[in-house]
Amino acid sequence: MDSILVRGGSELHGSIPISGAKNACLTLMPAALLTEEPLTLTNAPRLSDIRTMRALLESLGCEVASLQDGRVLVVGTEKITSCRADYEIVRKMRASILVLGPLLAREGEAVVSLPGGCAIGARPVDMHLHGLEALGAALELRDGYIHASARNGLKGAEVEFPVVSVGATENILMAATLAAGTTVLRNAAMEPEIVDLATCLRRMGARIEGDGTGIIVVEGVARLGGATHAVVADRIELGTYMLAPAIAGGEVELVGGRIDLVRAFCEKLAATGVEISETANGLLVSRGNGALKPVDVTTAPHPGFPTDLQAQMMALLTLASGVSRLEERIFENRFMHAPELARMGADIEVHGGVATVTGVDRLRGAPVMATDLRASVSLILAGLAAEGETRVARVYHLDRGYEHLEHKLSVCGANITRIDGGRQ
Ligand code: UD1
Repeated sequence: MDSILVRGGSELHGSIPISGAKNACLTLMPAALLTEEPLTLTNAPRLSDIRTMRALLESLGCEVASLQDGRVLVVGTEKITSCRADYEIVRKMRASILVLGPLLAREGEAVVSLPGGCAIGARPVDMHLHGLEALGAALELRDGYIHASARNGLKGAEVEFPVVSVGATENILMAATLAAGTTVLRNAAMEPEIVDLATCLRRMGARIEGDGTGIIVVEGVARLGGATHAVVADRIELGTYMLAPAIAGGEVELVGGRIDLVRAFCEKLAATGVEISETANGLLVSRGNGALKPVDVTTAPHPGFPTDLQAQMMALLTLASGVSRLEERIFENRFMHAPELARMGADIEVHGGVATVTGVDRLRGAPVMATDLRASVSLILAGLAAEGETRVARVYHLDRGYEHLEHKLSVCGANITRIDGGRQ
């Protein structure tokens, strides 16, 4: 298995291009199931999760062409040949559940494996199921699969989510575009990925209003058509790379970065003393000279501080001059990075959903590993600032969500290399 070796201590100077958002692309691809005409996605990220979604769509009968070295994906679904999303693919990636709504809306049936438990908590799919039931689907859970049918088509309805869920909002939004009549989604997720999906669906002919607010209204249409859509910039990749010069020192421009995608995160980063400014091409982040100040962070649905940047922010705060408190409110068990950061010399105490981080003067390199994507990258960030060598194992997590990570950082001066598992 590959690992990544980081030798800390180099300041970073240069620019990093921000890729299209993994999480947006993972919902835009299944949206292609809603029409017989091709959906062209530009600015697609080249990631293993995207390849997994491609394999899933192909197993349903889609033809997926990858152009411009994977930057452009053309998803054609003239015919759906299977309505069954198999466990073998779904178990690899929870976002596979996003084919459920579109399959049901187009074909009147879907059989989708229940996603397994996940390293960052229980992550159930009950709200996806209740939402589809409200639209008139009949559901049955059998042999680890969701069997859904709506022989006479879906019907618009009021759906109120008890908890804000990005995936459930996406699934029901896609299904509602082809349902008869009006669907109102209340307590809907407001993430930029939802706005990106709604924008793409409108291009395909859907009638949607209110995306980006907590109430989304969808007027169902009889059919959708093809479209071309550019995937929004990845705000989590953006935030992660904004933290690189913040922790290692130096100044880096994030090309394609937009402040409106990461406002709550920027407020906290600026409060540590890191300087952020907008440029013609994106955002410029500079560590400046002063000591890092501690801050308190509580994760929340958008527009709050994203849970997907909590681990990376913690890496920075291990070096602040004082005590920071990080509260995780979206997922239980999302502090797996804390003991690994502690192995690098960080002082972190975790009680339930709260981590108390007391800043230390320096981190020391160590062999570390993490069991999820964002936790893994937080260890890379820590390694950039640590004395000596940090070797991060289980790199396949990183490859799910960060395109060319070691290249993007090394062109800015980071000392980072991938070690081929076969050559260890
Ligand atoms: C998406 C993102 C993920 C991010 C998360 C929260 C994708 C592919 N993944 O995940 O990176 O961390 O949003 O911003 O876009 N819940 C239920 N029942 C449900 C669905 C969710 O109880 O049916 C709970 C979850 O356990 C969690 C909370 O709702 O506690 C929010 O999860 P949700 O927004 O659904 O996360 P995902 O869409 O899976």
